[in-house]
Amino acid sequence: MSTSAIKIDAKLCCKDAICVSICPVGIFQGSVGSLPVVDENMASNCIKCGHCSAACPTDAISIPGLAAADYQKLSTTMPDLQSLRDLVMGRRSIREFKEQPVDLELINELLEITRFCPTAKNTQLLHWVLVNGAKKVRELSAAVIDTFRSNEKMAPMVQAFDRGADPINRGAPQVLLVCGPVKYDWGALDAAIAIANFELAAKASGLGTCWAGFTTRAAQVGPAVNACVGLGVNDKVFAAVMLGHPVYEYCRVPPRKPLELKIV
Ligand SMILES: Cc1cc2nc3c(=O)[nH]c(=O)nc-3n(C[C@H](O)[C@H](O)[C@H](O)COP(=O)(O)O)c2cc1C
Ligand code: SF4
Ligand code: SF4
Repeated sequence: MSTSAIKIDAKLCCKDAICVSICPVGIFQGSVGSLPVVDENMASNCIKCGHCSAACPTDAISIPGLAAADYQKLSTTMPDLQSLRDLVMGRRSIREFKEQPVDLELINELLEITRFCPTAKNTQLLHWVLVNGAKKVRELSAAVIDTFRSNEKMAPMVQAFDRGADPINRGAPQVLLVCGPVKYDWGALDAAIAIANFELAAKASGLGTCWAGFTTRAAQVGPAVNACVGLGVNDKVFAAVMLGHPVYEYCRVPPRKPLELKIV
């Protein structure tokens, strides 16, 4: 029988059974005081989440495909609840952008953070497309407008666009598309998580964002958006977000509906 190559270094293991408890798919067998055993029948279910080795206090576990050098040190400073509250409540959907595009290095840095967001079964199947610069964003908005041109409800938007405004992507200098395999059924959720986190990272950097729902919908009902950004038929745009430097600062947090919580 071939083995999984998931390894525990017996010389390092302190037998606290953390890996036994923490592995989401139950690959380690044993209890406190004994050296855990890798259940080879379960090992093919490993989702490469790295939880076992990230939590192991003695660095005794190796998982194929997850190089020891690629684990990063956990920061000892975390934002306190008040800082997080300010960030989440201070985020707004920005619809007025300065012309100046966001520095590509900064976008890259924000996306590097976002790639640590959760994905269903740790699949990490999403990839991003940056629609970069006013000219290309206008082309993207034109593809959206063309998709909806025959839809009567969209007539005011079509007319506004034809007059030179951009009611689709609001004159943002950049738009990010979150894409993945067309058949990936968790794609919309994974993409929503990625964008929600990206928005907070952008806000923390003084940038403005807004969900691009019309662009997302157009990509899902017609081929024009995919064609505009060079995506093939096997790729799906699961979500999209406008990005830029905001023109206005907000002075207050607007009210929202009260929390509804049922405890059962
Ligand atoms: C849409 C979605 C559904 C998920 N469903 C489950 C689940 O049913 N059970 C579970 O243990 N983890 C679930 N997860 C957690 C993922 O397995 C986890 O995010 C992934 O393994 C990466 O680990 P991390 O979140 O610690 O980075 C889900 C995550 C997402 C985004
Ligand atoms: S978490 Fe590490 S130290 Fe603890 S039992 Fe597992 S391998 Fe051994
Ligand atoms: S990487 Fe995740 S799924 Fe794989 S053995 Fe470790 S904890 Fe279990």
